[in-house]
Amino acid sequence: MVIPKPVRLDTRPGRLVLDRHTTLTAAPALAEVAAWLRGELSPVTGGELPPGPRPGGITLAVREMPPEAYRLSVEDGGALIEAADAAGAFYGAQTLRQLLPPEAYRKAAAGRSLPLPHVRIEDRPRFAWRGCLLDVARNFLPKADLLRFIDLMAVHKLNVLHLHLTDDQGWRLEIRRYPRLTGVGAWRRESQVGWNGPGDGRPHGGYYSQDDVREIVAYAARRHITVVPEIDLPGHTQAAIAAHPELGNLDTPLDVATTWGVGPNVLNAEEHTVAFFQNVLDEVVELFPSPYISIGGDECRKDQWRASPAAQRRIRELGLRDEADLQSWIIGRIASHLAAHGRRTVGWDEILEGRGAPEHAVITSWRDDHGTVVAAKSGHDVVPCPNTSVYLDYRQAPGDEEPVPFGTVLTVDDVYAFEPIPSALAGDRAARRVLGAQCCLWTELIDSTRQLDYMAFPRLAAFAETVWSSEDRDPAGFRRRLGAHLDRLTALGVEYRPETGPLPWQRRPGVAGRPEEDDAWQAKVSEWTRPLREGR
Ligand code: ACM
Repeated sequence: MVIPKPVRLDTRPGRLVLDRHTTLTAAPALAEVAAWLRGELSPVTGGELPPGPRPGGITLAVREMPPEAYRLSVEDGGALIEAADAAGAFYGAQTLRQLLPPEAYRKAAAGRSLPLPHVRIEDRPRFAWRGCLLDVARNFLPKADLLRFIDLMAVHKLNVLHLHLTDDQGWRLEIRRYPRLTGVGAWRRESQVGWNGPGDGRPHGGYYSQDDVREIVAYAARRHITVVPEIDLPGHTQAAIAAHPELGNLDTPLDVATTWGVGPNVLNAEEHTVAFFQNVLDEVVELFPSPYISIGGDECRKDQWRASPAAQRRIRELGLRDEADLQSWIIGRIASHLAAHGRRTVGWDEILEGRGAPEHAVITSWRDDHGTVVAAKSGHDVVPCPNTSVYLDYRQAPGDEEPVPFGTVLTVDDVYAFEPIPSALAGDRAARRVLGAQCCLWTELIDSTRQLDYMAFPRLAAFAETVWSSEDRDPAGFRRRLGAHLDRLTALGVEYRPETGPLPWQRRPGVAGRPEEDDAWQAKVSEWTRPLREGR
């Protein structure tokens, strides 16, 4: 019935009916959750859901229990959600909505009577970090679409939105001190069609103003989602360098990138560049209350530093061994600045290389399981997001049918089988370092909300179960529950991938992905992670 699967769910005979007379009463500490639930149910039942003692109403009450946990009981006398905190009550309210017919997600059905089965549910999440990365840099996602996506995350009880805001192909966050970052960096001349195709000749761009960000953060917070911003550096910075050539290594100006892949253009290691990004992050921490701020650190090609006399001079001046150490030095400087603001640095597993990750850094580990194991064993908190299991931009089936056949095949069942604690950490105390997990939606080949829906759903539902529910997987039960869940997604207007493959309008003939055989792909991942495995 419910996704992600609750710890315990007992159904009893009988139904409670919610209708336009239904009341909703909440403890003062849960008033915001009540207001949210009213906003969702009122357009469906047509009632105001006023507080009141009417039997058969909904009650939100505070009880001692673990953070984010809730208890939900429905009987003739009413529906009672108990939780210790607003997050728990919110998840109880999300579960209550899922117990209603899918029409409960249609906002224009005012006047409906909604049957709610009699149940007893005890529930709490397995992990504290239940994340999704959304890349709004490669293709900009307009604010309204982002708010909709936040609602869809909340339906699945995810609680961290890792927002990848900057990359070679676009800078999407207004920075007051440096208006050129969005004035220049948020716009590109055209975009590559598919992974290897020609340019489409069509300008692309967009960014979030600081007011937009405050709205997005508040909207997410109301849904118990923390927005972790990512300002990627020192690689993936061509858009910033296009806006501010003094940040780069070349004398020739650069454009915002119009092609995909890991580009050579990276930051220089001069003091003024470090200061520039410290200033950027001063505004970032003002906008994002998250205790965690990501500075990326992935895929920084070292070619320009090898060729640059200035970079080589920096390496000597700073007493470093090589370019890998130079990257660690830059990450270290920025992480210290964030620490001075009381924030913890998050970085991809590449920041474990060179001189190692800064103290207290959280590692988002994407290259298979290697980074997760190295991070946890070296005392770093870690959030696995392995490309081999939870990269939701990867293709969903073999063959030529997928809209963009990119990466290796990751089916719904593959994602459902993901286990956040790698087998190499099973039974090891270091496994406590795994805070949860995160799925990733990179958007080089996802250029609209419709395409995002297709790639995210229903795999995101499978992912949600891997981070919320018990480690005992229940594939047959999940399949059954997914059937009902797809009806909910339909009512919500989500254009998910049908089990049978893309519908005719979901195909994108001629748009080529990166056709990799599984073995070749895995060999590449293995090559990428060699420095980690060899301790360098
Ligand atoms: C990544 O996929 N480069 C984190």
